[in-house]
Amino acid sequence: MNTTVIGLGKMGRALAAALVARGHDTTVWNRTPGRAGDLAVTNAQTAADAVAANELVILCLLDFESVVDVLDGVELTGRTIVNLTTGTPAEAAKLSALVTGRGAAFLDGGIMAIPSMIGSPAAVVLYSGDEQAFRRAQDVLSAFGDRRYLGAEPGLAALNDIAMLTGMYGMLGGFVHAAAMVRTEGVPVVEFTETLLIPWLRAMFPALVDMAGQIDSGDYTAEESDLAMQVANDGIGEVSRAQGVSTELSDPLFALMRRRVEQGHGGDDFPSVIELLS
Ligand SMILES: NC(=O)c1ccc[n+]([C@@H]2O[C@H](COP(=O)([O-])OP(=O)(O)OC[C@H]3O[C@@H](n4cnc5c(N)ncnc54)[C@H](OP(=O)(O)O)[C@@H]3O)[C@@H](O)[C@H]2O)c1
Repeated sequence: MNTTVIGLGKMGRALAAALVARGHDTTVWNRTPGRAGDLAVTNAQTAADAVAANELVILCLLDFESVVDVLDGVELTGRTIVNLTTGTPAEAAKLSALVTGRGAAFLDGGIMAIPSMIGSPAAVVLYSGDEQAFRRAQDVLSAFGDRRYLGAEPGLAALNDIAMLTGMYGMLGGFVHAAAMVRTEGVPVVEFTETLLIPWLRAMFPALVDMAGQIDSGDYTAEESDLAMQVANDGIGEVSRAQGVSTELSDPLFALMRRRVEQGHGGDDFPSVIELLS
């Protein structure tokens, strides 16, 4: 399936390169000309020419507004538009209405990778929207890495993308807080991370599945480590303050845990905190 890629920023160029590496004839367009460099692609003169060139059109631009700008006035009938620009579920829904209203099929995607990972199995791309379109395009889309179709609701890929980033930033926040603590005593952060933190986090990962099960069932009864025990002392706060490390990252989480205990849920497991978020 010949393919068009619109947007040759860092990510768009990696997508186009992955298609070329798989032997797909690829047409590209970028607002600023010359970004294709030595890639073996056909350069379209305009966005409209690029869309006209192939049924499958992949967009990877800065944001939602740039996608709307680029598609303005372009004939879309019969095309399959795959938007791999990061956005919100609401933006995906708007784009879906705009594109399908002009006679094209629509898929929205969330790229869970950085450009250098594109084309490797470690790169995961989430898709939602028109299922038939996904089935038609999936061999081409496999050039980017692992692909996951999440459902017909256009915003599902964006929702899951942002949820995964939320999980990642929680982990990164914990990482920098922990690193700030150990470096106060001159512990090399790389050594701490490789020999202690990563093995510990790996050992904890399977517990996430059990916690997810508690959230799905609504039964938070603690078997081993209840919330009352977890907030009985303020170890993280005390040690941080003693070492001169800010507790700005951990304070909001522990405030929620304490509130949950005050509400009579001290016998619950940690995931019960979700009830204060929803
Ligand atoms: N890079 C990553 O690690 C990464 C990871 C996951 C997802 N993403 C997502 O991938 C998308 C692209 O990211 P990127 O890293 O490729 O960004 P980038 O290098 O800054 O490229 C932005 C692209 O958007 C184009 N653009 C911006 N405004 C435009 C407008 N008004 N009209 C037409 N074209 C416009 C730029 O064209 P010009 O060349 O003319 O400026 C360029 O092609 C973003 O949504 C990003 O969130 C990126």
